[in-house]
This record gives sequence, structure tokens and C-alpha cells, in this order.
Amino acid sequence: MSILFAQAQYVPVTCSRVLCLRSPENESSFHECFIMAAEGVDATILQLLQDNDGLDTKDIARQLGKDHQLIVGAVKSLQSLGDVITAEQRVSKWWELTGEGRQVAENGSHEAVLYRAIPPEGVLQKQLMESIPNAKVGFSNAMKKKWIQMDKTGANGPVLKQAVSAIEDEVQKTVQDIAANQGEGVDNKVKQEMKKRKLIQEVTMNSFVLKKGSGFSTSVTKLDTDLTPEMISSGLWKEKKFKPYNFDALGVPPTSGHLHPLLKVRAQFRQIFLEMGFTEMKTNNYIESSFWNFDTLFVPQQHPARDEHDTFFIKDPMYAQGFPEEYMEKVKTVHSKGGFGSQGYQYEWKREEAQKNVLRTHTTAVSARMLYQLAQQQKDGFKPVKLFSIDRVFRNETLDATHLAEFNQIEGVVADYNLTLGDLMGVLHAFFKKLGIEKLRFKPAYNPYTEPSMEVFSYHEGLQKWVEIGNSGVFRPEMLLPMGLPEDISVIAWGLSLERPTMIKYGIDNIRELVGHKINLQMVYDNPICQLTS
Ligand code: PHE
Repeated sequence: MSILFAQAQYVPVTCSRVLCLRSPENESSFHECFIMAAEGVDATILQLLQDNDGLDTKDIARQLGKDHQLIVGAVKSLQSLGDVITAEQRVSKWWELTGEGRQVAENGSHEAVLYRAIPPEGVLQKQLMESIPNAKVGFSNAMKKKWIQMDKTGANGPVLKQAVSAIEDEVQKTVQDIAANQGEGVDNKVKQEMKKRKLIQEVTMNSFVLKKGSGFSTSVTKLDTDLTPEMISSGLWKEKKFKPYNFDALGVPPTSGHLHPLLKVRAQFRQIFLEMGFTEMKTNNYIESSFWNFDTLFVPQQHPARDEHDTFFIKDPMYAQGFPEEYMEKVKTVHSKGGFGSQGYQYEWKREEAQKNVLRTHTTAVSARMLYQLAQQQKDGFKPVKLFSIDRVFRNETLDATHLAEFNQIEGVVADYNLTLGDLMGVLHAFFKKLGIEKLRFKPAYNPYTEPSMEVFSYHEGLQKWVEIGNSGVFRPEMLLPMGLPEDISVIAWGLSLERPTMIKYGIDNIRELVGHKINLQMVYDNPICQLTS
């Protein structure tokens, strides 16, 4: 409809149902009425061309008493039918009278009007000047032309008298002449003078010269633009002629389409991982079973993190199905009895607890699934991998200026033969260096699934202090060996939030200004692209 509305200017000229334009719920009747109007003109133009080639749309408009734009619109629609007509653009220029010019053509020049207003005995200048329009110009021109004279001897002020018995109003004649033949045949100097007096103006107009095309006919059928369900079911589409798509047409420019800062920073992190040879993991499941989110990661079933206070549990469906049973058995054993050189947690592991659906609390659940999958695929030995993910996770946390119940995690995982803590530190240095962060410190930490575990700190030049930027570790054998990974494969991994570096990068100190319904969209439009390197 927007295209039709853009042409709405054509409608009022020809359409008696123009009122339908005003009511938006009446779009279809507006549509019909526009088509009606345009179709009539189409047919008339073809009829005119039948007997007369080389018609100018400007003349057609004048002849039909229609707005020129309407004729041009009809020509465009005829052109879309193929070779029915040809239209060549022509620029025409002519002179026409201004409002003041029309006044002069009708009543005479200002000086003539003033001259004629003076009675034989003369009149007080003051009185005359107040009684006729454009008296100032008229007075000065009439004086210049010596048509009038001034007598200053009177006691009541200057008196004006006619100085000649008859005048010839050349200006009126010229203006009338120009009106009659659009300025043709009138000396250019004269026209410039009239223009200077603002009596005439030059008009430029683009019109089209129309000729019959190779497929000319006066009875063209309008091509259909819409294929409707009715046409398909009745088979009518077979007989219909459809308008070809115009793939050159420019689309409507979108009024938005800006990337949110989080997306910009995500793109930059993704770029860094890709440069370092990492492959992105599939993270397309927000809902995860406790089994993959916790149990496979050797998180005991009574761990505080599994508490409702930290984890969102799903009510419906409450339990997940379809686990790899053999592997699940191994996970159960390593938790309850130990194995692979570990004594386990020595508690009664419950399947029901592992089945509970949760909103994943970390993307390490995705890494666990991936590592298990890779362990199953190793026919000719395990191939080292470097993996990453960046996606949303959920925590049932108290909301404050820097925490929401959902955020994005960035996670890197490297699985290779005999990796050590030194490799982890090395890869963390390489990764953060690409972010422009060179000063790193590591602090021993605890995760149920990594040993050793380290928190990563970097020196923040702006804040002048060490800030925590991530968590990392070497995955425990209790996690990797039940999956079936070879014993000499170690997996190092680290995780950080996407929000934190974004807030630092864009100088945002309240997470609600970055995420949620309170954000100022202008902030999204105005922020520059992200360049993490310093
Ligand atoms: N899963 C951890 C967290 O949510 C991050 C992490 C990933 C730690 C990988 C160690 C290894 O904070």
C-alpha cells in the first residue's frame, strides 16, 4: 500500500471518491479508485497516440485538462506493460506571468494605473499614494517616463498632475504578449526587465514525448501483480498475465538496523577466537538437563549452585528424557563411588535429580556435551580441538547494577595431549593480548569440574586496580574419563561474561542501561563499532 499512497497526489485530480483516501481502513477502495482513475487515462493516451505519434505529455495534460503528474503516472504504467509505447524525456522551458504580472496584464502597469488616477485639476500626492495599490513603483516610473509632474507650491503639500495628454502602456502590452505566446518572439532584454520587475518567471518542466511502440495496441490488458489463493484454486492463474518483478527497484530504506553493543562486542570476540583457530560450538538450547549442566561436570547433586536460589528449574516439562544410558551409569558411579583414581563424593546419586530441567547456568554444559560427542567419534584416535561458544546463560541471582538473571558467557576450550597449567596460562595470555590486555594475574580458585582452577585478573588502567575478568581451569579426570576420552588428553578451558567487557568498553555502569526495557535506543544507534584492541 505504501507505493500507492506515494502516488496519492494523482488521485484528487480525477477521482470523485477522493474522500476514501482519508480513511486508513478503506485502503482497498482507495486502491480501486486509484486504478480506475489511472486506467481511464491509460486508455485515453493510447487512443490519442493511435492517430498521432510524437505527443508531448505536457500537451496531453493541457488537452485533457488533467494534472501533468497524472499523465506521467499513466505513462509509467503503460511502459511497464512492455513495448506498447516509447517515451523520451524532454525538458521544456517557457515564460509565464506572476500574480503581479497578471494584475498588470489586466489593469495596466502600476505607472499607468497611477497616471489614470490623476484628475485634470491634479491631486494631492499624499492622498493619491494612499488610494491606489503599488503607488510607490507607479510614481517613480511615471516620473521617470515624464507622464506626471509635481507642483510643490501648494499649501497642503505637493500636488501631482498629468504631464502628457495620452500615454502608451508598453509594459502592459509586453506582459500581455508574453502571456499569449509564453515569451516566444519577445526580445530577451525585455523579458529580463520584466523578470526584474517580478512580472514574469521562467518555468522548466520535464515531460515525455510519446510514440507508438513495437507492441502498440489500444486495448492492452493490465498485467496482474498479485497471485491470489483464489486464482490458484480456480486455475485462473493459467490465463492471467503477470507483471514481471522489477529487481532493480530500490527497497524502502530501513529506519533501524543498528547492532546492540553486546552484539558488536560478541562479533569482536568471535573474530579473536576464529583468528586463533577455534571452532564455534552449537549453543542453541537454553533449556538443559541437570545431567549435562551439572552431573557430567562432576558437580555433586547437593552442591549449593544447584539450589533454587542459584538455578532456575523448569516446571513443565520438569524432567528431561533420552540420556546416553551407558555414560549416565558411569557418571553415577564416579559421583557415588568414585573411580579413575578418585574416591568420588560417596553419596547416593539420584537419576531423578539429574533429569531435572534447568535454564542452563553456564555454557560449560555445551562444552560437556561437545566433549562427550567427540569422545564417541574417535575411531582413529582423538584429534585435538579448539572450541568456543558465546551465548546466553541464566542465574537466579539478586539483581543489582551489574547483575541480571541472564547474561552471556564466552567460553574457550582446548583439548589436546598432555596439556598443562602452563598451556592454560599461555593461551589466556594470547587470548587477552588480542583484547589489548597484557597484564594478567591468576588466583587459585575452586570449580567442581576443574583442578587446578584459576580466577583471571587484569590490571585496569582506568580504575587503577586489578579486576577479575574470568574463570578458568583444567577439566578433572572425573569429568573426562567417564566420557571415554583417552587418559593422556587434557582439556583446558576458561569463561568470562560478555556484559562486563562491554560495559567497560562503552562506559556503561548500570547493566539496565545495556539490557532490558529501560535502555535508551539512541545509545544503540549512536555507539561506534567495537574495536577491542587497545
Ligand atoms: N563455567 C564457569 C562459570 O560459569 C566458567 C569456566 C569455564 C570455568 C570453563 C572453568 C572452565 O563461571
